[in-house]
Amino acid sequence: MVIQIAPSILAADFAKLGEDITLIEKGGADLIHIDVMDAHYVPNLSFGPMVVKAIRPVTKVPFDVHLMMDNPMDFVDEFIKAGADGITIHAEVLPHLHRSIAYLKQKGVRAAVALNPSTPLNVLEYVLEDLDMVLLMTVNPGFGGQSFIPSMLKKIKNLKEMLEERQCKAIIQVDGGISLENIRDAAKAGASCFVAGSSVFSAPDPAAMISQMRSAAEL
Ligand code: DX5
Ligand code: ZN
Repeated sequence: MVIQIAPSILAADFAKLGEDITLIEKGGADLIHIDVMDAHYVPNLSFGPMVVKAIRPVTKVPFDVHLMMDNPMDFVDEFIKAGADGITIHAEVLPHLHRSIAYLKQKGVRAAVALNPSTPLNVLEYVLEDLDMVLLMTVNPGFGGQSFIPSMLKKIKNLKEMLEERQCKAIIQVDGGISLENIRDAAKAGASCFVAGSSVFSAPDPAAMISQMRSAAEL
């Protein structure tokens, strides 16, 4: 399993966002996770396409844009134009999920669907084959720095089984409360892509933390 570490810039120092991005690029970040929050779907407000556009020239690392918003499809084109390489949309807000995934694929970006902790896996039943990635939220979305919900390990395992049974190519990304302490358990359960906000950016050496997390996941 190829392990990917995706630092979330929600935990970066916004006064020196460009420098922080350079730091995690040097540390070997596989993706840069960008948490977009609209203050409706989640009780917090973060970045829009303008920020994505501003940081695009700073790095070559692919942008993994996680849309935590009520009407994500209204903004997909703008985020792609701004430089998103992959877009993650939440199943909970999309009445026509199949159509929305098809749109992302048609646009040529990596298509991913996110599920909140309480959302059952079966909402993916008829779209799983179409996905490049499934994001399992391991905290309730809205804030960085929360604790990993232990019951999500079973959900990761169940999704892994579902993907294997159906020979789907989608990888499992986990997001929320991922640390050096629990990354191994999440990897053993079947996750291969790890979003990490506070554990990376509050470490004394964020670049070293990325390598340590990767090694722990690869054990
Ligand atoms: C939560 C976001 C996460 C968050 C992760 O709503 O989707 O990506 O930034 O932060 P940590 O790693 O601090 O839990
Ligand atoms: Zn996220």
